[in-house]
Amino acid sequence: MHSIKVIRKKARVFIIIGGAWGDEGKGKVAAFYAKIADLVIRATGGANAGHTLYINGHKVALHLIPGGIGYPGVICLIGQGVALDLDILFQEMEDLRNLGVLDAEERLKISGMATVLMPYHKELDELYERMRENKVGTTKRGIGPAYEDKVKRDGLLVYHLLDSLENLEAVIKNAVERHNILFRHYGMKEAVVDPHALAVKYHEYGERIKKMVVDGHNFVRGYVDDPTKTIVVEGAQAVMLSIETGNRPNYVTSSDSNINGTLSGAHLSWKDITEVILIYKAYLSRVGNGPFYTELPAHLDADGNLIPFAPEEAKIGDKLREAAGEYGATTGRPRRVGLYDILVGRYAVEVSGADYACFNHMDTIGKFALESNGGSISVVTSYKYRGEEINYYPFDTIYTHEVPEPCSVISIPGWVIEKGTHTYEDLPENAKKFIEVIEEYIGVPVKYIGIGPKNSDLIVRTDV
Ligand code: IMO
Ligand code: MG
Repeated sequence: MHSIKVIRKKARVFIIIGGAWGDEGKGKVAAFYAKIADLVIRATGGANAGHTLYINGHKVALHLIPGGIGYPGVICLIGQGVALDLDILFQEMEDLRNLGVLDAEERLKISGMATVLMPYHKELDELYERMRENKVGTTKRGIGPAYEDKVKRDGLLVYHLLDSLENLEAVIKNAVERHNILFRHYGMKEAVVDPHALAVKYHEYGERIKKMVVDGHNFVRGYVDDPTKTIVVEGAQAVMLSIETGNRPNYVTSSDSNINGTLSGAHLSWKDITEVILIYKAYLSRVGNGPFYTELPAHLDADGNLIPFAPEEAKIGDKLREAAGEYGATTGRPRRVGLYDILVGRYAVEVSGADYACFNHMDTIGKFALESNGGSISVVTSYKYRGEEINYYPFDTIYTHEVPEPCSVISIPGWVIEKGTHTYEDLPENAKKFIEVIEEYIGVPVKYIGIGPKNSDLIVRTDV
């Protein structure tokens, strides 16, 4: 017997993952790669994501369609890990047409194995939040209930919409049986689902999307097996929001937005990866509830709503939120903000297998340090927890009921990034120091540095 060694040449595959609790500016690095990509894939979550981008000079927030659609000729795929809300998809297609993207329908593909997010999932999302004592603070986009049906094995696939009306109705009937009991019990008469009427509507939706539906696996293989191709996976949500690696059990989204779920959601395997890029901001933000140990004080109530305050009463968290424009792209909610936390950062690197990191808002934080924070900015490098100093992110708070507090910090004087800065060498010394401190702690090179709001405000280092 002799062994045969097969050398497979493959496409380049870049995977973009959120390093914290979402809204890290994943779209900026995605856009950098989309320019050279053949295929851009959305892999997890649904319309809970909000990815801001510029198309023909106009700012748009896309929730479902990959941002790659803004680049001529780029093919985009909604992968099997997505919970697809077709009403929102149709709305986004129309928005794109109005922005002059006329061929979106030809360039957008939908995996037949993607989960369909139905109107009753949104009703359930509202209902569950109302019933909960510890509110998650979801985006109310129906995400949790859609994945709950998937896990319960009652989920609707895109393929079901292409089946006969009769068969689709049977699938919907089975899926809503228990939901209808709940709706009746809670007096939500309008929410009670008539399987026939819904089947008619979604059968029509099936007709509308039919031309876009592909066999996700074979479609993606066609690219992976071609060494001339470049694939970008536009991650949604983030490591700390993942149902597997985030602040479980309550304060997470319902899909695995870390690397494993992102890979399977995109019809890929770990062997296909060229580069995993973890995206952070130079500070942290969180929208919705859940632990945030380096949060800065701000005028926000327990539900995350702004408490009105006079300008002179602004707390430090209010100042950072305003300086950075931290309001949700999906829900408009003010975001909680805090100091960059090495312990979150390193945890995310470890559980995602990241090759490189990106730090966005480096301009914002340098300026904020100088103008509003006494001249410098800190990153947290250890917590005080249960009477000790620790240097890891603890999950046993579930039963200890103790809250870690920032202990050691490293403070770095602020900086101003001049317009026209294009290279790492040209960054102010203090900005470089900030990056170097973080690299040392999180253990991967910071290859990408966001220095402004535009897609082009990105430094890509060639020295790492
Ligand atoms: P992008 O892709 C920020 C948060 C919600 C809530 C929790 C659960 O823009 O980074 P869900 O509606 O998913 O059941 O809500 O997760 N969340 C996000 N926060 N950015 C996102 O996506 C988010 N997607 C979900 O605020 O706390
Ligand atoms: Mg968001």
